Amino acid sequence: MRVVFLAPAYPPEMIQYTRGLAEVGAEVYGVGDSHRDALPREVKPHLHDYLQVPRILDEDDVIERVSLWLKGKSIDRVLANWEVLVMLAARLRQRWGLPGMSPDVVRGFRDKEIMKERVRAAGLRVPRSRRVRTEREVREAAEEIGFPLILKPIAGAGSADTYQVRTAAELEATIPKMRGVQEASCEEYVEGEEFTFDTVCIGGKPAYENICQYLPKPIEARSLEWVSPVIITVRDMYQPRLAPGVQLARKVLGALGMGDGFTHMEWFLTPKGEAIFGEIGCRPGGAHLVDQMNYTSDIDLFREWARVVCWKSFEAPAERKYNVGIVFKRAQGQGRITRIEGLGEWLREAGPCAVEERLLKPGTLRRNWKNTLLSDGHLMVRHPDWAEAHRLSFAAATGIRMYAE
Ligand SMILES: Nc1ncnc2c1ncn2[C@@H]1O[C@H](COP(=O)(O)OP(=O)(O)O)[C@@H](O)[C@H]1O
Ligand SMILES: [Mg+2]
Repeated sequence: MRVVFLAPAYPPEMIQYTRGLAEVGAEVYGVGDSHRDALPREVKPHLHDYLQVPRILDEDDVIERVSLWLKGKSIDRVLANWEVLVMLAARLRQRWGLPGMSPDVVRGFRDKEIMKERVRAAGLRVPRSRRVRTEREVREAAEEIGFPLILKPIAGAGSADTYQVRTAAELEATIPKMRGVQEASCEEYVEGEEFTFDTVCIGGKPAYENICQYLPKPIEARSLEWVSPVIITVRDMYQPRLAPGVQLARKVLGALGMGDGFTHMEWFLTPKGEAIFGEIGCRPGGAHLVDQMNYTSDIDLFREWARVVCWKSFEAPAERKYNVGIVFKRAQGQGRITRIEGLGEWLREAGPCAVEERLLKPGTLRRNWKNTLLSDGHLMVRHPDWAEAHRLSFAAATGIRMYAE
């Protein structure tokens, strides 16, 4: 089994997928823009070979270089787990006639309007929306859709350039902020709680499923710096309250023609109990979500994903043992982290339920909280009871304080 894996060491969790591939017996051919000598030590033993390209996002250039590099070798899979590379992987598969999702199928996971059209065409509940390219189109779409609405890039990520707009005046104030965005979605604002639905699929059917709740919704987490965003995996994901989401999500996979691999979907649960589609990617969620899912069941999804995409088999047990909360912290002030308060007390209280503490250490420069969901580090805590996992997560969110200057 020869596998081309794009960006095998970036973002850093890709190292784990590279390991997984090697562990299930694949010969991994990595392609990335880091120099071979700059690859992290942990990834090297799992790479059979590696090609450095000048610009990994320049699809046409990478396709030519990789084709030349592998000339005469038979390759079995081309894979990518980083959102910006899933289309490049599909184009390489198409060029070489390999199994896996085609560029057209992948487009349904990348272009938020095509995505919604396909999901809507399957009779599923999707926010009313329109593709907009000019200021005039934005105003027309707003007229048609009504307030409140959401304006967001067609291929966005991490809630960047995403705005909630409540009135015509707010619309006028938002339009100039969107000038850097070529194409956007103008969408009906959906009131409600926000959840994920994550899978590892074999032929579009989930071999593994997960739900997380966002506390608060990502758009709020990204607009208020003082918030410590919390995301908790829901151990009891098949409870009746969430059933509309599970049904919706499974049908979405069919509507979009999902093949093998990870999916990461977001959906809303309205106060009336209706599930409404948000968005979906054909790759794993970022910001340590796969670690959280692993802690939920004490499994290794990095390796099981590899087994699925190479051999169409998934061997991890399905039992969900814990609700796993991740809490992202943001320091007050700018510059370097100077001190952390409340951490010792929290760790003592959480005891063995605290599974990770990765706050930036004093002396480290703060991260830009707008650019990375990771903020200034995170804590992870797990408990079999939802209420307790929730309580311990919020104890970290409110009780631990980081300062910078
Ligand atoms: N139609 C909508 N109604 C309410 N909130 C929305 C809507 N669309 C997006 N959001 C909010 O904005 C966030 C980012 O939008 P999303 O479509 O998920 O883009 P991204 O690719 O940036 O994650 C969502 O997680 C949600 O909190
Ligand atoms: Mg999203």
